[in-house]
Amino acid sequence: MEFSIKSGSPEKQRSACVVVGVFEPRKLTLPGELIDNASRNHLSDIIRRGDMEGKSGTTLLLHNVPGTLCDRVLLVGLGKEKEFREKEFCQAVRIAVKTLNETGSFDGTIFLTEVPVRKRDVAWRVRQASIIAQETIYRFDQFKSKKDEVRRPLRKLTFAVERRNELTPAEEALTQGLAIAEGMALAKNLGNRPGNICTPTHLAETAMQIAKDHQLECEVLERADMEALGMGSLLSVAKGSHQPPKLIVLHHKGGGAGDKPVVLVGKGITFDSGGISLKPGAEMDEMKFDMCGAASVLGTMKAVAQMKLPLNVTMVVPASENMPGGAASKPGDIVTSMSGQTIEILNTDAEGRLVLCDALTYSERFQPETVIDVATLTGACVVALGQVASGLFANKDSLARDLVDAGEEANDRAWQMPLWDDYQDLLKSNFADMANIGGRYAGVITAACFLSRFTKKYDWAHLDIAGTAWKSGGEKGATGRPVPLLTHFLLQRAGKLH
Ligand code: BES
Ligand code: MN
Ligand code: ZN
Repeated sequence: MEFSIKSGSPEKQRSACVVVGVFEPRKLTLPGELIDNASRNHLSDIIRRGDMEGKSGTTLLLHNVPGTLCDRVLLVGLGKEKEFREKEFCQAVRIAVKTLNETGSFDGTIFLTEVPVRKRDVAWRVRQASIIAQETIYRFDQFKSKKDEVRRPLRKLTFAVERRNELTPAEEALTQGLAIAEGMALAKNLGNRPGNICTPTHLAETAMQIAKDHQLECEVLERADMEALGMGSLLSVAKGSHQPPKLIVLHHKGGGAGDKPVVLVGKGITFDSGGISLKPGAEMDEMKFDMCGAASVLGTMKAVAQMKLPLNVTMVVPASENMPGGAASKPGDIVTSMSGQTIEILNTDAEGRLVLCDALTYSERFQPETVIDVATLTGACVVALGQVASGLFANKDSLARDLVDAGEEANDRAWQMPLWDDYQDLLKSNFADMANIGGRYAGVITAACFLSRFTKKYDWAHLDIAGTAWKSGGEKGATGRPVPLLTHFLLQRAGKLH
């Protein structure tokens, strides 16, 4: 779909459909009033007759409104003006785009981006609106022989801004929004693909394609390379599978040659059966999503490259299946990580931390400014935070704060949890330097504590996205999170948010 920004009067738009908001009860927004004046009270007459109360979630499509140059006017209910916040704004845009797409308009001009949202500027509104528009039309039908096609799909969307001096910031925000949306779509596609297609090799090929498309540097380490580096922990997870593991590295070199990179590490378990500590059968299909950390850092790299951010960003993805083959790790096995620390594998289903710890040690060689790992790491995180916020841990408070702020700004929230030493005791092993599980309590924290033992040499944050990376049930599918959070964090670092 094509996008653009415009400032101008709604009644003068030659568009298949012009979208304006109505507050509850029966109060037109400014662009609505302009159309009302041009049409000699056509809109206010309709509203007075009770066809549109302005309730959030409602729409009314009007044809041939007098005094306008467009074919249609779509009224969208915004709810009460006093209660109009981010959530209501996003919902209004979503329903507007959905309606445009389903009612035959090839193009639309959306004036909802002119409606003030408390504390949010025009750039925020345009960025969010463009992301929501792309999300609304996203379909994953790669494996459906019959695609249910929209007969006259929306091809072009224009977001209106009130003043001419808002055009430049809005256009910049649109470019950012589209890059984020593309990164999210990549993350969703990878997440939604089944385990037999989306293998470690598939993730590596995807990285190589991104590198080719955007002139990034890509390197893929094979099993033999990992053996030479002493990645005994990562390799122990791959042993039970026929799929070869990969360690995938991408470099975006947008900063100065001497600038230290931000390193993004993503868990890439392309299917998590649990291994010998086999998972129960119910919903095990959802463990194809166990590479959503990898998918989100790949999506973020794509967005960063597309925006040509003036920063150095490196991605490291340890990719493997976790399967119960004859050579698989057994409970009680002891492995030596690349850091030299030994690990007693008490549960083969706690495999994410086993692949991540070696990727985190490997990341030291890039002399990172910051390392952020992203992982569908624990069911305990879903119990604690549900599907609203990602779990956040950091060994530096200002980094945690920056990530919380980025999530808030991006509508992709994270919530900080403690990394106190008191929890480290739970990882004690009688036979090795540590165990890979910490018992029944505080599972989301003990997983982070495990990782913290491999991140002493740099500033580090960990995002547990087990609850946020995908949805279950009727709308089962990857969400593309936390691409918006990560990209906002990097935009902030690059000084591209005002
Ligand atoms: N990939 C899972 C975590 C997970 C489970 C994410 C359910 C989303 C939904 C991870 O590898 C895992 O199995 N973790 C175990 C750890 C336990 C054995 C300490 C878990 O959370 O049960
Ligand atoms: Mn597991
Ligand atoms: Zn897992």
